[in-house]
Amino acid sequence: MRLTVLGGGGFRVPLVHRALLDDAARAAATGDSAGVCTELVLHDTDRGRLDAIGRVLARQREAGGGPGPAVRATTDLDEALCGADFVFSAIRVGGLEGRTRDERVPLDEGVLGQETVGAGGVLYGLRTLPVAIRIAERIAAVAPDAWVINFTNPAGMVTEAMGRVLRERGLGERVIGICDSPVGLCRRAARALGVDPDTADYDYVGLNHLGWLRHLTVAGRDRLPELLGDPARLESFEEGKLFGADWLRTLGALPNEYLHYYYFNREAVASVRGAAATRGEFLREQQSRFYDGLGEGGEFEAWESTRREREETYMAESRAASGGWERDSCDLDGGGYDQVALTLMRAIARGERGTLILNVPNRTAVPALDADAVIEVPCLVDAAGARPLAPTAVAPDQLGLMLSVKAVERAAIEAAVTGSRTAALRALALHPLVDSVRVAQRILERSGA
Ligand code: G6P
Ligand code: MN
Repeated sequence: MRLTVLGGGGFRVPLVHRALLDDAARAAATGDSAGVCTELVLHDTDRGRLDAIGRVLARQREAGGGPGPAVRATTDLDEALCGADFVFSAIRVGGLEGRTRDERVPLDEGVLGQETVGAGGVLYGLRTLPVAIRIAERIAAVAPDAWVINFTNPAGMVTEAMGRVLRERGLGERVIGICDSPVGLCRRAARALGVDPDTADYDYVGLNHLGWLRHLTVAGRDRLPELLGDPARLESFEEGKLFGADWLRTLGALPNEYLHYYYFNREAVASVRGAAATRGEFLREQQSRFYDGLGEGGEFEAWESTRREREETYMAESRAASGGWERDSCDLDGGGYDQVALTLMRAIARGERGTLILNVPNRTAVPALDADAVIEVPCLVDAAGARPLAPTAVAPDQLGLMLSVKAVERAAIEAAVTGSRTAALRALALHPLVDSVRVAQRILERSGA
C-alpha cells in the first residue's frame, strides 16, 4: 500500500513515519511480512524542507532498527499522486508567514487572530481552499481510487471542499478529515475517571475545533455526570483547567479546547494581544531555527527537542488566561492525529472495524444540517470508509454555534470557488467572533485576500 503525504517536508511528518514504523514492527512480531504501508511518498513544494525531513526519517528508521516503508520524495504533484492508495494532505499554504498575518490583522482590530478560529481561520481558509480544491482535482484525475485523509487546516471547510470535488466527479465519499483534539479530550476525560480510554464510548458532536463531549459511557453507564460533579478530578486534566469546573458543570458537557476562544473570548484575546509573540511568530522563529540549523548528524535529536518545545508551548496564551498552568507530560508525547490516521488506513486497507472521531459528511446524523455538511463525530470505520454514528440530540446552544460556523465555512468555500468578494466578506462578518461588519471589511482589505 502506497501512502502519499502532501506537505511531506512538514515538521510533523516524522510522527506519521513513527506510526508506520511501529505498525511495521508489530506486523513483523506477529509474523506478517509488512505493515499497512510499504511505500511512503513525500511531496512538498519546498525541496529544502523535503531533504531536511528525509534526513530526520532516515535517522528515525536507523534508531528503530526494524522494518519500515520505503521512502521517496518529489516536488512533482502528479508524480506523487499517481498510484497512491492513500493521500494524506497536511499542507500549510502561505507558510508560517501567512499564519502570522492571519493572526495580526484581526488582532489589530481587537478580535481574535488564530490559526483556525475566528477571522484568522477564515483568512487561512480563503487562502488554502483554492489550493486544496486544485489538489482534489488532480487526485480525481490521476489517483481516482485513492482515499484522502485531510489534516490541512481549517480541516472542516477544507475537507468539505475537497470532498465536494470528488463527489461531483462520481468518485464517492473519499475525503475524510482528521484532528487530534477530540481524541485527546476523550482520552483525558476517561483517564480522569480511572477508565481505560479504549473501553469507553464517546458521544461527541460538532464541527472541527468546535465540538462537545456529552456522554462518556462505560459498560452501558454514562460516567460524565460523575466527572462533572467532581471538581478535583475535573480540574486534573487540560480541558478542566482551561474551562474551570464551575463552567463545565454549568454547561453539562466537556467542550473541545478550541471552545476556549468562544467561552472566554475576552480573556483569550487579551492574552494573545499581551504576549510578546503570537503562536505563528513563535513557530516561524522556532521552525526556521530547526530547518536552517540542521547539520550533518543529530537530525533526529534536533527534531525531537524542537517537537517537545512545540508541544510544551501549545495554547500557551489560553493556559495563561486560565490561571497559568503547565501541560501534563503524558500530553506531550504526540500519538494523536498520526494514530488516528494509521487506524483509519488499517480500517480501510485491511477491513479492521473500529470507531474514530472524524470529519465526514453529515448524511442524517444531525438532522438540522444538510447531508453534505462536514461534521466531526464518532464514525464507524471499515473497508468501506467512514460512516457517522448518530449522536444524541444536539443541545440548542451547541447547534446554534454549529449552524453559524457552518454558514461561515460555506461562504468561505463559495468565495474560493467563485472568487466572490461578497462571499468572503460574508464569511468574515458572519463569524460569531467578529463583532462588527466594519471590522470584517477592514480585515478583508488589510489581509490582501
Ligand atoms: C492541534 C490541532 C491542529 C493544529 C495544531 C496547532 O493539534 O488539532 O489542528 O494545527 O494543534 O499546533 P501548533 O503547534 O501549530 O500551534
Ligand atoms: Mn485540529
